[in-house]
Amino acid sequence: MAVSAGAMGKLGATANTRVDVKVSTRDVQQFTGDALAVGVFSDDDGLQGPAAALDEALAGVISALRASGEITGAADETTLLHTLGKIEPTHVLIVGLGPRARCTADRLRRAAAIASRTLRKAGARHVGLAFAWIESGLNLALAARAASEGALLGLYEFTRYKSSKATKGQQAAAGAETEAAADGEASQNGAQPARRRLTTITIIGRGREQAIRAAVERGRILAESANFARDLGNEPPNVLTPTEFAERARRMAEEVGLVCEIHGPDWMREQGMGALLGVNQGSAEEPRFIILRYHSASDKTPGLALVGKGITFDSGGLSLKSGEGMKEMKTDMCGGAAMIGAMRAIAQIKPAINVTCLVPTTENMPDGRSYRPGDILRAANGKTIEILNTDAEGRLILADALSYAVKQGLSPLVDAATLTGAIVTSLGSVRAGLFDNDEALERTIQQAAEASGERVWAMPMDDEYGDLIRSDIADLKQIGGRAAGSIAAAKVLSHFVGNTPWAHLDIAGMASRDRRSADSEPGATGYGVRLFAELATVLASARARV
Ligand code: BES
Ligand code: MN
Ligand code: ZN
Repeated sequence: MAVSAGAMGKLGATANTRVDVKVSTRDVQQFTGDALAVGVFSDDDGLQGPAAALDEALAGVISALRASGEITGAADETTLLHTLGKIEPTHVLIVGLGPRARCTADRLRRAAAIASRTLRKAGARHVGLAFAWIESGLNLALAARAASEGALLGLYEFTRYKSSKATKGQQAAAGAETEAAADGEASQNGAQPARRRLTTITIIGRGREQAIRAAVERGRILAESANFARDLGNEPPNVLTPTEFAERARRMAEEVGLVCEIHGPDWMREQGMGALLGVNQGSAEEPRFIILRYHSASDKTPGLALVGKGITFDSGGLSLKSGEGMKEMKTDMCGGAAMIGAMRAIAQIKPAINVTCLVPTTENMPDGRSYRPGDILRAANGKTIEILNTDAEGRLILADALSYAVKQGLSPLVDAATLTGAIVTSLGSVRAGLFDNDEALERTIQQAAEASGERVWAMPMDDEYGDLIRSDIADLKQIGGRAAGSIAAAKVLSHFVGNTPWAHLDIAGMASRDRRSADSEPGATGYGVRLFAELATVLASARARV
């Protein structure tokens, strides 16, 4: 199966991120690619599984390093061995998996990402990952899925704006120059040597081939869709305007077979979306309202709504951000991108539930026409909002989108938004904040979060927090004071969902990373794509049981 670690070709993925994913159930010693990665646990006595099999072929070097304590099996530890002609692959990478009993899907996903990144740096083109070959105690299908997901997520790079092939190569950090030099191949124009690149990942599994293939395919769909969302998040805001954001969603929808509707300001006026239009007032770019529909033949209800914040650039508006605070604000559309990415996965996974994705998108800019602190805006459900700070724009555009979802009869409603700096203070970049009005939905989301490895933490929504946003002159205030900023924001949203079961994820701490790590490039993370696609499948199977 030919796949891409970036998005699909036309959608902005660069040529050098294309990776094929294959499956092999043959013994690990028979792998004929140029590098292999195998795992070792920290608490095993001797070597097990693929490490043991390779040790034999490599004259005992792995067990010697294990005995000397050079290989401990600690989580994320990597040891690169040169095979010196003893087996076909020139390199073997030993990846520590930590204690056997704590080997979760998340652990294997990380190990696969680290392994594929490390072996790409070493110049490998065809890499075998034997993480679904060991008896990890983890269900074989989950291990195979984690391996393909992790490899494709780990290999993701955003190289679109690197001009030459040589500069693109440098993005792979250390090793890039030597790769290019060692490569010796001429590029298409003959001027520069092509970058030696990783083109194929083989997931080596032991067990039922059909089950492994299906799991690898599932992981591929999820990782590719997350990478699609990452491309959107990484695009600069002068390219990814609301119009372009909608255009990319439309092209993707066409490719995977989703229904797509894109609406402009006239439609928003007809809908009474005064909050979204208010935020857009200061921008030279037209707003868009993106709707994607996935229809399942077996669901007779309107179904799930996935609503995402789509601010393509948040300057703060008249309540202007500082230069430092504005720097990352091209990623303020990552809630929207997560929902659109989840739809891309849902279209291919085909769960038995109808799903509608709603993304209101605009810039938030200062201008003579901008909305102002003191303004009162009327949202699509008729409620009036007293504006106190134009930088609290996300809740406003979501107010209209949630009102619209309720009018459409969609249920449950789930939104994702880079909504508050306060949630970054509370939860950092480990878990997203979860706010809701429905315990059953909360549990289902927690379950999907554990399964996908995209973690959440449920925050309180006591009635008293609602007092923070009482207004003297409108139905509600847009912001409270300094206290409980993320909860106050969620309380604003709760005014627009009526009695419909609803959950809000504040992903401000999760949407992007500013540093490169062992398992990922810096930039947009695609957080939420896997969680929301998983949620759709969990909700579908819960419905099937009743
Ligand atoms: N997009 C920001 C929230 C944000 C902050 C996301 C940091 C990612 C990193 C949002 O629109 C915002 O500006 N929120 C304000 C609200 C305040 C004015 C009540 C905030 O959190 O400071
Ligand atoms: Mn803002
Ligand atoms: Zn914002």
